[in-house]
Amino acid sequence: MSHTITVLPGDGIGPEVMDVALEVLDAASAKFDFKISRSTHLVGGAALDATSNETPLPKATIEASEKADAILFGSVGGPKWENLPPHIQPERGALLPLRKHFGLFANLRPGSCLPALTHASPVKNELIPNGFDVLCVRELTGGIYFGEPKGREERNGEAVAFDTMVYKKSEIENILHVAFKAAMGRDKRLTSVDKANVLATSVLWRETANEIATQYPEVTLDHLYVDNAAMQMVKRPDSFDVLVTENLFGDILSDEMAMISGSLGMLPSASLGEVKDNGLYFGMYEPSGGSAPDIAGQGIANPIAQILSVSMMLRYSLGETIAANAIDTAAQNAIDLGLRTGDLFTGKNGETRVNTIEMGNAILEAL
Ligand code: IPM
Ligand code: MG
Repeated sequence: MSHTITVLPGDGIGPEVMDVALEVLDAASAKFDFKISRSTHLVGGAALDATSNETPLPKATIEASEKADAILFGSVGGPKWENLPPHIQPERGALLPLRKHFGLFANLRPGSCLPALTHASPVKNELIPNGFDVLCVRELTGGIYFGEPKGREERNGEAVAFDTMVYKKSEIENILHVAFKAAMGRDKRLTSVDKANVLATSVLWRETANEIATQYPEVTLDHLYVDNAAMQMVKRPDSFDVLVTENLFGDILSDEMAMISGSLGMLPSASLGEVKDNGLYFGMYEPSGGSAPDIAGQGIANPIAQILSVSMMLRYSLGETIAANAIDTAAQNAIDLGLRTGDLFTGKNGETRVNTIEMGNAILEAL
């Protein structure tokens, strides 16, 4: 089998963790006998720098990605570009348009805390004796992020700004199917998060969730208001299996989930479009953590989130499930051996502090 991907390393720690992740991808392709043809393109601040601030998302990047099976994304943004006009800043000018252009409506953010890393979580150890493993499914191309009208104007001599939260029933159905299917492959429990005591979009959301549930009789569905969900997430994260929610709630809850997992450096994500006839998805795969400009260029970032993003890509877009599982196991192995990048290192007995390349080499070895 042969697959085509575009690689968009971006800014900050993106390029350095990407280098290591690509080595892991190459090793997996040699071991499990599939070919990857890949091209690297500019995105984010790196693209702004190369185009004299014309665009964070050059045409060549989009065109190459249109021809690919998947996008492997690093991270974008940093202080250098923070004062540019908002529409060309890396996040708003590259990340959101990429999601919209490719119809990547389903954002999967696994948030797990391995039993060996519970002491790194800000949640009290006794609340999560065995760690936890939650999958957050976030709607990614609708809601208040993209709703119209959106803007700012003068009314009676005063500045007024407004955003619109809007959902079509079909958009809610699409993301709920993704979430139910994900739950079917896990513990068959789905929590739908909304604000149905206040928002019209949430009333439609909850209604639709209950309807779709009849097609998945094996899955237990429950509903939580988003404010309550935020509390339960820190009180009993190990009680959740799959969470599904709209764009803005998902943005906030997935950060909360990431924080309590102990380190952002461990969490991958997948942004998927419609399922194709072959059961695979076009998708964009990126670490949840961002560009971490404070440690960029030092070679100390945790490459695991980027490596696990590779394995999500192999699973959802390339259909190389065995290779994906092998990479997950290899990463877990490095943790079990006590290897810790700075974000995970606590000085406990049995921990060895390593840098980006050393962590990558341990995972390559295990693979
Ligand atoms: C995320 C980020 C983005 C979002 C920003 C950078 C636009 O926070 O992927 O969660 O809000 O979706
Ligand atoms: Mg976010």
